[in-house]
Amino acid sequence: MNDLRCTAAFREKYNREPDGIAFCPYRICPLGAHVDHQYGKINGLAINYGIHMAYSVKKNGVVELSSLNFPKRAQFHVRSVPDEKVGDWADHLRGATKVLSEKYELRYGLCGVIEGSLPIGGLSSSAAVIIAFMTALCKLNGIQLSEMELVMMSKKAENEYVGVSCGKLDQSCEVFCRKDSLLYMDTKDDSYELIPVNPAMKPYSIAIFFSGLERSLASSKYNMRQDECKAAAYALMAHSGMDYGKFLDARLRDVPVEVFEEYKDCLPAAWRKRAEHYYSETARAEAGAKAWRKGDLDAYGALIFESGYSSVHNYESGCDELITLYGIMTETEGIYGGRFSGAGFKGCCMALIDPDYAEGIERQVGEKYLKKYPGLEGKYSFHICKSADGVIL
Ligand code: GLA
Repeated sequence: MNDLRCTAAFREKYNREPDGIAFCPYRICPLGAHVDHQYGKINGLAINYGIHMAYSVKKNGVVELSSLNFPKRAQFHVRSVPDEKVGDWADHLRGATKVLSEKYELRYGLCGVIEGSLPIGGLSSSAAVIIAFMTALCKLNGIQLSEMELVMMSKKAENEYVGVSCGKLDQSCEVFCRKDSLLYMDTKDDSYELIPVNPAMKPYSIAIFFSGLERSLASSKYNMRQDECKAAAYALMAHSGMDYGKFLDARLRDVPVEVFEEYKDCLPAAWRKRAEHYYSETARAEAGAKAWRKGDLDAYGALIFESGYSSVHNYESGCDELITLYGIMTETEGIYGGRFSGAGFKGCCMALIDPDYAEGIERQVGEKYLKKYPGLEGKYSFHICKSADGVIL
């Protein structure tokens, strides 16, 4: 712990040791992209990189936090968080505090330094910041959250305060995951399973390819795609004579795939493609769970590549740089499967790779990518990670 940059920065700033270090890992989602907001099924792994926060209690209730990744120190009181977001990184902290204080009494604040260990975008650093901060605030205020409560409260902070209508994929991976087990979750009823690595499975590493473009979901087409999915669900329900309620409650999960097959031609092309992605991606998450259980990494990887293809062509969620990386990955030896990580508008791609090929993969992908985007030299980066435990409460 002593070599953390946030601990060193804390010492320098406050001239003492921090009371504690909060940590929340990042996550990857090999299958189940963009289906959580439609209550579909997802696969996820937490990784051994994430958000660290060195902190100490502030008994006067003030929160005073600096980030090693963003300018401007956050400062507010736990009992008077502004109702509206400000538009900076600290909205995540304000949102977490607000949501927590709706249910629990907060007396103490904290001072500290927070740090992210990889470039931002695609690994769900937003959820990780909220979760790390929330767990520290809970600890200092004697609040014991259950894992599910932590997932739902951190999601609420992002939905209602930060203004991104994300599903619960990120938070669930960052909380429920355990090292070397694949999280297989049904986001409709929150049932989940941790499927351990089969001893027969070939070894794998997780590779992260950062495009060099940092991402903010709030300004991407993330929310719009979700509206398109809901519109498709609503239209399918109406065309097929199903009962339906409020538009806001419409989800593709509530429309059987047979209804989609029968009525898909009634949909505008864009909505049909979003729905096509949903149904095929849900099927891939189910097939992925089976392949992982059997230890069949080749089959699992092929599903990840298919998922990437559907994200590009049906969900239309890439940007040129990420689509280029995806294309390069599909033709690189030693990669079982890869796709955009996270929402995929900017940020990074992830892949499950054969560890013996790691060096070649790093060299080949980097060379080809930077040949096309020389301006991203110094911004593009490659990282190897392992699966890890989610937050330990
Ligand atoms: C972001 C969101 C998640 C999920 C993914 C796409 O990470 O926060 O809820 O929708 O995008 O799978």
